[in-house]
Amino acid sequence: MNESSSRPFVFINAAMSADGKIATIERKQTRISGSLDFDRADELRATSDAIMVGIGTVLSDNPSLTVKSAARRENRRAQGLDENPARIVVDSMARTPVDADIFKKGAGRKIIAVSGSAPKENVKELSKEAEIIVAGEKTIDLEKLLTELTSRGINRLMVEGGATLNWGLISAGLVDEIYIFIGILSSEEGLHRRLWMERDVWRSFAGWSCYHVRRWRMEFSFDGRNNKFNNPFILLSR
Ligand SMILES: NC(=O)c1ccc[n+]([C@@H]2O[C@H](COP(=O)([O-])OP(=O)(O)OC[C@H]3O[C@@H](n4cnc5c(N)ncnc54)[C@H](OP(=O)(O)O)[C@@H]3O)[C@@H](O)[C@H]2O)c1
Repeated sequence: MNESSSRPFVFINAAMSADGKIATIERKQTRISGSLDFDRADELRATSDAIMVGIGTVLSDNPSLTVKSAARRENRRAQGLDENPARIVVDSMARTPVDADIFKKGAGRKIIAVSGSAPKENVKELSKEAEIIVAGEKTIDLEKLLTELTSRGINRLMVEGGATLNWGLISAGLVDEIYIFIGILSSEEGLHRRLWMERDVWRSFAGWSCYHVRRWRMEFSFDGRNNKFNNPFILLSR
């Protein structure tokens, strides 16, 4: 839990290109990092109470958000936990498809956060698959949602994007740490969507510090060849 408030400890994990992009212009996922980074992210998932994404990411990537390592799932079960953390979608209008992979793959809680404006029929259908939290009138009131998550036992929350949700949380001062893997691709390889929206970006990061930088030597397929690159990895904290 965040020490200064009743909300969970919130961290964002993302992989971005050398020039700060996280997806293609068509909003499609592309492979920015590699197996070492996937494993690091899997460890973060396995040690979190919940993983949150925005509806944009569900509609474009349909992620399952499960813990991939069998040993980590077993370790969670041994602690009396579900094998996957709770999976949460920020979805004002209840547009999450009922056949989305978060419902089909892996055991564990699912939570859909909707607004008071969400069509009742959609909410009813989703309530058969997930817990529903109503927070906000038109879009999701993120602060209210986080307080509600704390009351439901979620104290450590991992956010896996996309850009709009990342920015919504950062600009509202609701993020404690950001892990960023920086890959070698750039806009020239078709990446266009930014890690977060640019408006007021630096003002929102006043008071943050970058306290961990390391370089990973990783193999990456590029131009049909396997090459090794030194990829920076940074951790921002406040
Ligand atoms: N490289 C990476 O690490 C990474 C990780 C994840 C995703 N991605 C990429 O990111 C892209 C999706 O990003 P995105 O920006 O389009 O969508 P997103 O951030 O996943 O979802 C944004 C949506 O959340 C809903 N929302 C409701 N209340 C909100 C609030 N208070 N603040 C912010 N959002 C709120 C809004 O839709 P409603 O109004 O309908 O609720 C909003 O459009 C995909 O292309 C995906 O591949 C990349």
